[in-house]
Amino acid sequence: MLGTLVGLGGAPLAQPLYAEDKAFADPFTLGVASGDVTDSSSVLWTRLAPAPLQANGGMPDVYLNQGVTVEWALSLTQDMSQIVRRGGLTTDSDWAHSVHVEVEGLAAGTAYWYQFHAGGYASPVGRTKTLPASNTSIDSVRFVTASCQNYSHGHFVAYRHMVADNPDFVIHLGDYIYDTSFGETFRKHETETAPTTLDEYRRRHALYKTDKDLQHAHAQLPFFVSIDNHDALEDNDPSKAQQRAAAYQAWYEHMPVRGYRAQGDNHFEVKRSISLGNLAQISMLDARQFRDKREICSGEYDADYGFGNYRERCQAVFANERTMLGEGQERWLTKTIRENNKLWNVLASPGPFLPFTYQHNGKDLRYIGGWDAYPSNRERVAQAFAESKTGHPLILSGDVHSFWAVDGARAILPDEQFPLVEFVTSALSANWPPPLAQPVADNLPNNPQVRFYDPVYRGYLLHDINSKVWSTSARAIDDMRDLQSAARTLARFQVRRGEPGFSQENTQR
Ligand SMILES: [Fe+2]
Repeated sequence: MLGTLVGLGGAPLAQPLYAEDKAFADPFTLGVASGDVTDSSSVLWTRLAPAPLQANGGMPDVYLNQGVTVEWALSLTQDMSQIVRRGGLTTDSDWAHSVHVEVEGLAAGTAYWYQFHAGGYASPVGRTKTLPASNTSIDSVRFVTASCQNYSHGHFVAYRHMVADNPDFVIHLGDYIYDTSFGETFRKHETETAPTTLDEYRRRHALYKTDKDLQHAHAQLPFFVSIDNHDALEDNDPSKAQQRAAAYQAWYEHMPVRGYRAQGDNHFEVKRSISLGNLAQISMLDARQFRDKREICSGEYDADYGFGNYRERCQAVFANERTMLGEGQERWLTKTIRENNKLWNVLASPGPFLPFTYQHNGKDLRYIGGWDAYPSNRERVAQAFAESKTGHPLILSGDVHSFWAVDGARAILPDEQFPLVEFVTSALSANWPPPLAQPVADNLPNNPQVRFYDPVYRGYLLHDINSKVWSTSARAIDDMRDLQSAARTLARFQVRRGEPGFSQENTQR
């Protein structure tokens, strides 16, 4: 589907063959990326787009029905002098001349550098790193969870600091693009209209990928990318199947992710399990494609309060069959959690998992974008954690554009107490406007499980884990509108394996 692999023999990668006869301008305007790494493989990505915001990425019309040959090479050194793998493939305009190379048979825990050549041009050199061997004892891993980058709200300066923090990999929990600007606009999207067609989604992704800090992070760090509401659509609405298919195809074309596997009815494989030696297993969720509609209660609500996202729950919300994950993914997740044999048993969820009540006008309101709108499904996942014999449980999430550290055992209502800790990352560059933030601040006294909440700063979470301690730092950007913005560690949280809750250190460094 994605072109033919062409073996190129053992000679060093040739210099560009067509330097005197270039058929198009430099096609590597969107950078390079790697992702979905395992202990023996990595996905390498680029897309040929000489003029990224034009139709077909600015590739001349002659290439509409004709592929372009792309060569790639993988080296043990940054100067590309010790090449260990090479190959070639033909891009396809049906897939926006995107390139996904799945390189197998690599050494565990090893950094490699890679480069593409096409049309007489060389891409920037990217770096990737395989995961530690899945069955070996390892000392430590450092990684990032991040989410929510709205191009129109600020620069992606958080990525500079993320690269400087030198994590092994990045888990991006979704809202990689925004369909709308909402609120104040700092940088303009290529159009104010929300994308609905494949071409429009391609242009939005291409715009984001032109950001130099985003390109820098992708060129330096392997990513695992999930999907949230602004990447595609809120929920599984059959009437919008065509738009969702367009959104997912464009997402695939611009992400360093493994094969695009249609599963019927426009569903695509996003869930993954990340294995980190003997230390941790991270189950990464797709919480958008299979969820039941979030708005199932027809009662009145205050559209100004939380932009209508905080609502009273009717009885239908509690139905047993109501699902966030869909049947197949839930079966996979609960089995993966129960059978975990690593020291840490981790769930990476795009939206917040643990309960939070908004007491408003004498009513108990809940956020309908997260697991509070799917309580029976949450109960079954929590039950799987309870039944798991090995591995300290932990939840990492995003979506709400603010930093949270939550000790689920401290919730007021006994039936909403979960012996789980959740660290919620803030947005990389998306506002957390007062209509959303103020109700959270007002309701902290009703939610003693939330032991840390910061609505002010954008940033990401940096996790350092070893066999005894899980340490999470809230890394904050002073000002996302300033390309020179400094970063600071707002707070650091530590979970000791086998002990409930977490300790907290406010650093403000
Ligand atoms: Fe978001």
